[in-house]
Amino acid sequence: MDGSKRRGQPIRGLEGVVAAETSLSFVDADNGKLYYRGYDIDELAGRVCFEEAVHLLWTGSLPSRGCLEELRSELIADMRLPQQVYEMIRLAPPSADPMVVLRTAISALDLFDPDTGRNTEAANLRKGKRLLAQVATIVASLHQLRSGGAVRSADRSLDFAGNVLYMFLGREPEEFERSVFDTLLVLHADHGLAASTFAARVTVSTLAGMHSAICAGLANLNGPLHGGANRKVIEMLEEIGGPERVEAYIDGMLARGQRIMGFGHRIYKTQDPRSRYLRRFAEELPRREGREDLLAVSSRIESLVYERKGIYPNVDFYSATVQEALGIPKEYFTCIFAVARTAGWVAHVMEQFRDNRLIRPTSKYIGGFDKTFVPIGDRG
Ligand code: COA
Repeated sequence: MDGSKRRGQPIRGLEGVVAAETSLSFVDADNGKLYYRGYDIDELAGRVCFEEAVHLLWTGSLPSRGCLEELRSELIADMRLPQQVYEMIRLAPPSADPMVVLRTAISALDLFDPDTGRNTEAANLRKGKRLLAQVATIVASLHQLRSGGAVRSADRSLDFAGNVLYMFLGREPEEFERSVFDTLLVLHADHGLAASTFAARVTVSTLAGMHSAICAGLANLNGPLHGGANRKVIEMLEEIGGPERVEAYIDGMLARGQRIMGFGHRIYKTQDPRSRYLRRFAEELPRREGREDLLAVSSRIESLVYERKGIYPNVDFYSATVQEALGIPKEYFTCIFAVARTAGWVAHVMEQFRDNRLIRPTSKYIGGFDKTFVPIGDRG
């Protein structure tokens, strides 16, 4: 066998590989900064609503008041599902992971979407709006169906964030809750070529459609090394129980070579700018009875993990305590991340379609050569 075919070392985890050009977001590893379309996240967080961030990502500019109203009202109008998809959600086994139900429902929505099979810019924008609204509606409806509440229709007097909380919690949120949740969505909307975003871009690089890409993103996001970490964080906080037990617990995990969920990042080697906001919200939101210790446990873990490993919390660490304080059950934490990140996936899908080339890397083959074939009757 020609030795040239065996050459080339794989780059584990594709670390440092530049796999796409994007104008959507930039993760500045050295300075711990995040940019959406050139705007520092510190300029945007708390100053734009989620719909403004969506408009920015999808079109490249912040909307005028009129454009914002238009996008908001389109998204709210799209917050409904075909009856068959409601039924599908209702019939999902009660023990099924909400992220799996969500992924399955998005796949089913492709059966009913009027633009299915159409990948033009205009069709993709229509599908993107519907998908963003429907992801939120599926998550909220699933929670209501499972908790015995009434499935709510969107309320035109509320914005996107307000509607997600209203439909999810089954009550109108307080203004502080709404604004925290709104900023949480803004902070989660896009993040360079995260694994799920890459998966979405790879999917449409074959000219498969947007629903397939969102399914790929959802499947990928659910892993505990990505968006699934936020659920694991709250489980860890609950298991630890009190700040006095942090040291033994964390040292035990590190001694066993286990990962501390919600810490570390492939790109940031300094503070994740998103975690600063989420930590502040975690401190400001009132804690529910019996959950007062979660924040004290979180703070102690943060300082100890930095002491032991020199790594910082990522977006998932304090997002767990924020979501918990907002009354979102832990099984839905990753779904909420998915609601926000759908905005980014849609933007990346549209960007990929504008200048597409099949994404098809190569591998280093280590499976051997020149084996002698043995017919089935002669095998032992
Ligand atoms: N807990 C303990 N150690 C960690 C760690 C964590 N969460 N994250 C990274 N490290 C350590 C590794 O053990 C390794 O240390 P070593 O050099 O002494 O062996 C070093 O940091 C580099 O880790 P590496 O596996 O190369 O990082 P990566 O870029 O492949 O992984 C993550 C990035 C995000 C997958 C990783 O940090 C992780 O598993 N975090 C926990 C899951 C999580 O929170 N995911 C959400 C990401 S937003």
